[in-house]
Amino acid sequence: MFEYGDRVLVTSQKGRSWLVKIVDGPFSCHLGTIDLNRLVGLADGDSLVTGKGARLFLFTPSLCDCIFKLKRRTQIIYPKDLGTMLFYGDVYPGLTVLESGIGSGALSLALLRAIGSRGRLISVENRLEFAQMARANVQRFGNGSARNHSIIVADVQDVALRGAVDRVFLDLPEPWVAVETAAHALKRGGLLVSLSPQVSQVQLTHRELRRHGFSRLSSFEILKRDWEIDDRRARPTDRMVAHTGFITMAKKVDAPTQSEPA
Ligand SMILES: C[S@@+](CC[C@H](N)C(=O)[O-])C[C@H]1O[C@@H](n2cnc3c(N)ncnc32)[C@H](O)[C@@H]1O
Repeated sequence: MFEYGDRVLVTSQKGRSWLVKIVDGPFSCHLGTIDLNRLVGLADGDSLVTGKGARLFLFTPSLCDCIFKLKRRTQIIYPKDLGTMLFYGDVYPGLTVLESGIGSGALSLALLRAIGSRGRLISVENRLEFAQMARANVQRFGNGSARNHSIIVADVQDVALRGAVDRVFLDLPEPWVAVETAAHALKRGGLLVSLSPQVSQVQLTHRELRRHGFSRLSSFEILKRDWEIDDRRARPTDRMVAHTGFITMAKKVDAPTQSEPA
């Protein structure tokens, strides 16, 4: 049942949505106004009719819904990549994860959800204002302050964590500069996952990964194409997010690795 202070995804029949906090007051959009006091006691999937006669559905927002509503001053990782990175990165409850940089905290939220309360997330970010914004986003959308989440405000190159983490996630303009830190921080057999929009970044990162004892290097991208489906149409939408980034995966081993001779 919804209570005062809960966030609710108010959704029109055409799929437009607004993330609304339940307070003693009205919510208005182009479809009319509803008194938010009426939401208290309703539940996920219920609906209300506005003063203009439009039906609005009420949903408990998913993490995916929240990520699109984050306050952001940096590019965030899109859910299609977040899901892929977490699954290929084999993230599960109880793991210790290092991420850099934190940006707006979209990846942090996804990692915190996946590692659960027994896991630990260490985020390294070199800009204080982004660290503060991400912390606020994590508090807002991650069910309060996460006690298992620490943010280090520093250049990732200056962070020394010896064999302490199970996974490293990088979303940096120069991910190759973080490879040495990642190599020291990762336990043997640990996984590194990096996202980069440019293939030139991927090439430089591969070179550093091979120099620093990583194996099983792979890079790939995920394309997501939405479709319009109704009684008249069943076709891809005219527009798509055609490119986000390349995901690079690597596994930490105990010796420097070089390309095999052909
Ligand atoms: C694209 S944003 C990360 C977005 C984040 N993954 C998200 O999903 O919201 C990249 C971040 O890396 C930070 N950054 C860049 N170079 C860094 C470095 N050398 N050490 C630590 N953070 C760095 C930037 O300040 C920025 O906040």
